Amino acid sequence: MTLPRSVEDADVGGKVVLVRADLNVPLGDGRVADDARIRASLPTLKLLLDRDAKEVRVCSHLGRPKTEEDLAKYSMAPVRARVAELVGDKRVKVLENTRFNPGETKNDEGFAHELAKGCDLYVNDAFGSAHRAHSSTEAVAHLLPAYAGLLLLAELENLGRLLGEVERPFVIVSGGAKVEDKVAVLTNLGSRADLVLIGGKMAEEVREDNPFPFEALLPVDVVAADSFSADAQHVIAPEPPAHWLGLDIGPATCTLFSAAITDAQTVFWNGPMGVFEWANFAEGTYAVAHAVAECDGFTVVGGGDSVRAVHEAGVADRISWISTGGGASLEFLEGKALPGVAAIPT
Ligand code: 3PG
Ligand code: MG
Repeated sequence: MTLPRSVEDADVGGKVVLVRADLNVPLGDGRVADDARIRASLPTLKLLLDRDAKEVRVCSHLGRPKTEEDLAKYSMAPVRARVAELVGDKRVKVLENTRFNPGETKNDEGFAHELAKGCDLYVNDAFGSAHRAHSSTEAVAHLLPAYAGLLLLAELENLGRLLGEVERPFVIVSGGAKVEDKVAVLTNLGSRADLVLIGGKMAEEVREDNPFPFEALLPVDVVAADSFSADAQHVIAPEPPAHWLGLDIGPATCTLFSAAITDAQTVFWNGPMGVFEWANFAEGTYAVAHAVAECDGFTVVGGGDSVRAVHEAGVADRISWISTGGGASLEFLEGKALPGVAAIPT
């Protein structure tokens, strides 16, 4: 894959730079609850400041605002405050939520012109939004000299390794609730893997009707619960008794999956093994997180829940690459072109 041209090759001294970052972060109590995506955007902002950009205008969407009330709920104010804390340079300005303009999600050129006004160049660093053809990710790239930011490039390089010649064994671990969301990516990537491990609710769907052109390794036991609740009565069984629910993979499956993962040379993990928000059903997901951390090979974790699990398990610094993209990483690994990337010259 040919990478888009890098911000490192742009002449930014004295210029006003429009940066599209993905600052779509979780909020709580009017504050940023998890600033991982903000931190991931800092290297590009710092590079622009170090190279004497006159002004760095950062834009992003936040949430999916629809109503009048959402204007307060999804205001960028908390994000702007966090960016200011982390960067501490008055040349950085965080614009208001791009999705407050109805043109944004329509890839409207009028809104793209508004964004571009007064700017000399455009840097797209929003990998997490690169699968969207929106004014701030696509249309605006045709109005200003466009470059890729450091995070965007690092995502393409790291995820791109999974699409090339990988070191084997190449093991994919997938989970979560819905098989439909992952059929395309697992068909593309799974066909190139040596082993695909599937846990979570998805495993039961695959057991009944395998949609893939390969056989996946499915759980040999589960933690079955008599209801869908944190304190449900639970037992370990080869499969859930009638009217019970499998809410985690069982201990034998943890051993089986962990051994396959630690022996691999390349691992991609997306999707939890169970309802890991609840302590009684968290062990399988944490076992996978630890196994991925223990693996000496090249390991990649993508998708909101699995990323949260590696952080909660305290092993994030032992993973080769943690993607900031959810949908974007899946679409990229499906082999699809990302509009936000395609719009930048190579
Ligand atoms: C995400 O969090 O998946 C990205 O920021 C894109 O958001 P969206 O799914 O609302 O387009
Ligand atoms: Mg999304």
